[in-house]
Amino acid sequence: MKVIPGLEGVAVAETDVSLVDGERGRFVYRGHWVRDLAVSRRFEEVVHLLWYGHLPSMEEERRFGRLLSEHRELPPHVKEIIDQIPAKTDMMSVLRTAVSALPVTGSWPPAPEQAAAVLGAIPAIIAYRHHRMQGTPMPKVQRDLSHTSHYLYLLKGTAPTVAHERALEAYLILTAEHGMNASTFAGRVVTSTQSDLLSALTAAIGALKGPLHGGAPSEVEGMLEAIGSVDKVESWLRARLEAGERLMGFGHRVYKTVDPRAEALRRVSQELAGEDPWFQLALETEKIALSLLEEYKPGRRLYTNVEFFAAAVLRAVGLPKQLYTPTFALSRTAGWCAHILDQAEHNRIIRPQSLYTGPIPATS
Ligand code: ACO
Repeated sequence: MKVIPGLEGVAVAETDVSLVDGERGRFVYRGHWVRDLAVSRRFEEVVHLLWYGHLPSMEEERRFGRLLSEHRELPPHVKEIIDQIPAKTDMMSVLRTAVSALPVTGSWPPAPEQAAAVLGAIPAIIAYRHHRMQGTPMPKVQRDLSHTSHYLYLLKGTAPTVAHERALEAYLILTAEHGMNASTFAGRVVTSTQSDLLSALTAAIGALKGPLHGGAPSEVEGMLEAIGSVDKVESWLRARLEAGERLMGFGHRVYKTVDPRAEALRRVSQELAGEDPWFQLALETEKIALSLLEEYKPGRRLYTNVEFFAAAVLRAVGLPKQLYTPTFALSRTAGWCAHILDQAEHNRIIRPQSLYTGPIPATS
């Protein structure tokens, strides 16, 4: 037996859900380039592709959209639980707790209908808590808006512009799934014990919350706020690297070339933000960070990752910083559920080993 730190380079499943080719920058959901899906498809279509294995016909899309929208209203007990959570609790922890309380049948094996009940409810969980914290009224649930539009509508009280809807939709599609990352693996481990879908998703949300995984976009915004202006970028970044700190939004376990999601999101945010000074600061920070990373970490192949421009898109559509990672969880629920269904279909309990390094008692 050999310990592989961080399980780097270890494959734990065969799957046709997605390909993440970090050497060549190829990114595919079930035989489709994700960059094409992001500009030509709706989020609902992509979720259908991930869960059922094919893009839906018009009738299938209508039916699937209806299935998701049936779960937009939160049950009273879930609202009560959210109300009981102390105000200082972060939104990811609220989401984790509320998802675990949803009235979804725990029958085995998990089915797409169970997954739809969770995905359908997540925008309402986030928006309900957001309005409670802001002291603003939660808008009345609508049935005729798309999943993406309805999320923005629930947060802001008015239907979004087409530009905002399309930008957020591109983000949701680009981040819906990403192979065997830490949160997906956590969900698959729980599923492999024949535990229920809600338990698996609760574990996945907990894993996504960490700053080395999904917690990075708000940290990117924090970094840009701390830098403050273009003339301070280099000295600020250099000081962090001198102190041995990591720059948020750079580096990836799998991508050793440009993260295709970051490229796509750069274009989306460019269209929305244009000459906005904050976006210009982000572009300058990226340029200088890449050159400093080459200077301080030569040969590590550190590039901009998806989280850097996720912050730019989410900010441009008007989301507050504390909703960045929860919005990532909303999109990634699609990929988690695809993997949970996949794991259940080919199940074998995931049970690795550890190497004991402690003492052995003298007598047996
Ligand atoms: N800034 C500075 N140095 C870095 C960074 C960074 N962002 N990322 C990696 N490095 C350095 C490490 O210090 C290490 O240097 P060393 O060889 O001198 O020890 C080397 O690059 C390799 O780093 P590892 O820790 O082995 O890389 P790993 O694959 O374990 O980590 C990770 C990947 C966690 C994403 C890392 O790059 C990181 O912490 N990035 C910043 C946080 C971030 O942006 N997270 C979002 C990732 S995308 C997502 O999860 C959706």
